[in-house]
Amino acid sequence: MTPDATYQLLRNFTSPVVAITSERGGKTNGMISDSAVRASIVPTIPRLSVFIHKFNLSHDMIFESGRFVMHLLRQDQFDVIHRLGFVSGRTRDKLAGVPHHAGRLGAPVLDECYAHFECRIVNAMDTGSSTCFLGDVAQVGHGAATAARGEIMTAAYFRANMPAEWRKVYEEHLVAAQRFAEERSRDIRPVVWREPR
Ligand SMILES: Cc1cc2nc3c(=O)[nH]c(=O)nc-3n(C[C@H](O)[C@H](O)[C@H](O)COP(=O)(O)O)c2cc1C
Repeated sequence: MTPDATYQLLRNFTSPVVAITSERGGKTNGMISDSAVRASIVPTIPRLSVFIHKFNLSHDMIFESGRFVMHLLRQDQFDVIHRLGFVSGRTRDKLAGVPHHAGRLGAPVLDECYAHFECRIVNAMDTGSSTCFLGDVAQVGHGAATAARGEIMTAAYFRANMPAEWRKVYEEHLVAAQRFAEERSRDIRPVVWREPR
């Protein structure tokens, strides 16, 4: 099978589209991911994992703070994906126009979402180009619009329904990320996770 055909099959494993927020030294940020996975079947030990590329600002903020907030988004939250997932927080304060408040662990919780999960990192795995973070869920809640929660945003729904004018940039970012990953994926380093002080 060709690498492209393999990648199209791999896309069946993508997760819902989630917004991931972080805080480090007073600076807040948010990004978008479709690689989040439930990482525990124990109701009393809820866990989530996510792969975050090393070129994203969020990567270092999460690694150095040891926490993040993962948000399931509603199907009508395209604007949040565009604000957080198409540009880096290195160039602007991406959360400035997105209503949020500080969560129990200190990282920002978006007021509008389907549900949010505040996570404390308990382990990490290097992939060369990204880090897979394993988080213990410390706090869970629904977004403000509880009466009209609707459906969650899946990766397939996002790809099929994103505004046409976003598609070119989305594809360019994907190709750039794939190049970065291709160069670094074989350089895997062991990570011994220590909770930041
Ligand atoms: C639908 C979608 C899915 C994405 N999935 C991931 C992902 O799983 N991991 C990742 O590192 N970046 C992912 N990204 C890219 C980041 O959200 C993007 O690079 C963002 O601008 C990073 O912002 P930051 O530099 O402020 O952290 C995704 C973007 C979109 C639009």
